[in-house]
Amino acid sequence: MRGPRASNSCQALASHPPSNRSNQSETCDTHFDFICCGCHSEEQAIKNIWCEGGACTDVWLSVKVVVILLVPLLTQRIEALITPEPVSGEEETMSVDAEPRKPRILLAASGSVAAIKFANLCHCFTEWAEVRAVATNASLHFIDKTSIPKDVVLYTDEDEWSSWKKLGDTVLHIELRRWADIMVIAPLSANTLGKIAGGLCDNLLTSIVRAWDYSKPFFVAPAMNTFMWNNPFTERHLISIDELGISLIPPVTKRLACGDYGNGAMAEPSTIYSTVRLFYESKSQQGNGDI
Ligand SMILES: Cc1cc2nc3c(=O)[nH]c(=O)nc-3n(C[C@H](O)[C@H](O)[C@H](O)COP(=O)(O)O)c2cc1C
Repeated sequence: MRGPRASNSCQALASHPPSNRSNQSETCDTHFDFICCGCHSEEQAIKNIWCEGGACTDVWLSVKVVVILLVPLLTQRIEALITPEPVSGEEETMSVDAEPRKPRILLAASGSVAAIKFANLCHCFTEWAEVRAVATNASLHFIDKTSIPKDVVLYTDEDEWSSWKKLGDTVLHIELRRWADIMVIAPLSANTLGKIAGGLCDNLLTSIVRAWDYSKPFFVAPAMNTFMWNNPFTERHLISIDELGISLIPPVTKRLACGDYGNGAMAEPSTIYSTVRLFYESKSQQGNGDI
């Protein structure tokens, strides 16, 4: 049978009452629109059906079989086209059951004496967020590693190099940069501030910063002696990092670890936590899909 003409054939056959068959050729010539596989022309088909009654039965049977087979198939196909695609099992589970995942916070410490509060800062974030930590070599003089929450991995420069052995291995600073939704450096030393402002990247922390996607939130909480804070370099560097899109959690004025009184002490961990969380949640409520 040849394609679309088959359906017309059913109508054509139905429209010819048996009584017309004796007066075949004119009637057939006028109405028939069907060629079966055994007939190589319309003329032959007409002859088979109306003029040579024996062949007529075969064609009738063919038509019936084709209709029986094709109609359910076509119905299925049409239903598939008009029915919306079902969501896959995973997506369905996501939309119905899954809670949104926790924000991923990369907390970093550089070599200010305020790094003695770093473990406390990690604790502040762990209930709300998934936390990973990065420490510069200088900051390790101040951090009590045993106080870091158990579920927080602390990465150092040593890990950056021990995790890479050959081409094809993952590069830690790139992996951490990919993983994080938010970065927070607290405390930020004068040295690391200057390196970020100048684009230097000679350790794990500054390599992450150098690779950072600045459409993601990034906070710094500087901590340094008042002499350092008031030095003209500080303002220059703060302007540079502000241009990058890094947010400043300013230091506070109080008695410093060195005994001096003045500005330069790191903001309290609870203040850093609430600033970051408030910012993140207000952005999320605005429907910012990037964070
Ligand atoms: C006891 C001690 C306390 C320090 N405190 C600070 C500080 O509060 N802020 C700061 O910017 N640098 C401070 N420094 C200097 C930094 O540790 C130093 O510049 C270091 O190179 C910083 O390295 P990093 O930025 O890679 O962590 C201190 C150094 C010492 C020895």
